[in-house]
Amino acid sequence: MSSQNIYILGIESSCDDTAASIIYNGRILSNVIANQKIHEAYGGVVPELASRAHQQNIVPVVHQALEKAGITKNELHAIAFTKGPGLMGSLLVGTSFAKSLAYGLNIPLIDVNHMQGHILAHYIDEDGYNKPPFPFLAMTISGGHTQIVKVDHYFDMTVIGETIDDAVGEAFDKSGKILGLGYPAGPEIDKRAALGNPKAFKFTKPKVDGLNFSFSGFKTAVLYFIQREVKANPNFIEENLNDICASIQYTIIGILMDKLKLASKQTGIKNIAIGGGVSANSGIRKALKDGEQKFGWTTYIPKFEFTTDNAAMIAIVGYLKFLEGDFAEQNVVASARLKI
Ligand code: KG4
Ligand code: ZN
Repeated sequence: MSSQNIYILGIESSCDDTAASIIYNGRILSNVIANQKIHEAYGGVVPELASRAHQQNIVPVVHQALEKAGITKNELHAIAFTKGPGLMGSLLVGTSFAKSLAYGLNIPLIDVNHMQGHILAHYIDEDGYNKPPFPFLAMTISGGHTQIVKVDHYFDMTVIGETIDDAVGEAFDKSGKILGLGYPAGPEIDKRAALGNPKAFKFTKPKVDGLNFSFSGFKTAVLYFIQREVKANPNFIEENLNDICASIQYTIIGILMDKLKLASKQTGIKNIAIGGGVSANSGIRKALKDGEQKFGWTTYIPKFEFTTDNAAMIAIVGYLKFLEGDFAEQNVVASARLKI
């Protein structure tokens, strides 16, 4: 089959974003996302509300993706969808929609692992963006994931480190909640951190063997610290907010960088890529750039819209699988705990 002129629809619905994207060969023609604001009031994603919102959003989001790309559904060559990991109720909406549309159009269906999507987002064709050469290390950091993956080829990946409890984004968001910040708190902590002293307060780093991460103890340490200080001075948070944010961010970045440095040392790989919502953090970006000088790394950070949950990353995996003729059957099922 010719590798030219291939249009693929990608659908992502693993958590709280309903997203659809059209890829034409390796280029993204449209990348549409409906965020679910409803969860903000709850300080976190409520699974039942997420799947209901996906049901409302999926048809308009797919329509919009086709419209923005300037094609009709009859021009599609395949439909790629997120099979997992994620919230089961959310995954089911995207999976059943993708299945019925592919069946109706009589075109192939392609199942995509969301975590592979975050990593292969680096292979979207973008003017001026250099794609990481194999092998490289990919660190995926978001509200749902924290992983270091050794990538030998598109579909030859090995998870060499991951969190044993909370994800790094949760460490930001839960710390923010303790400080009374809105949800998600990561962006505000980042902003305030730039104005504060990162060494004002010290939080101990968790001791986890090898390349794995742990963030639940960190969150508890922040909670106890704040409770203690507020008891002595009820205005402690207001008076020190920027310094607290800077110190929290400094510790979290230290945890990530320690493991990334160790992974690079153990594997001898100096091509380092990041993805996931937390890769927007200015501190982690700076730490990676410093790694270029200090450790001879070459770093890869995709455009922001391709790092948070999105359907373009699902579409690119769909395209790469399409070229390999790797299709799913109509009886494919969503899998909440799908592994790489
Ligand atoms: O990838 P994403 O949009 O969704 C998933 O969780 O899958 O990531 C959202 C996470 C949230 O925890 C949010 O607080 C965090 O990314 N985040 C940040 C920043 N921007 C987003 N964390 C730290 N600094 C930021 N600038
Ligand atoms: Zn994700």
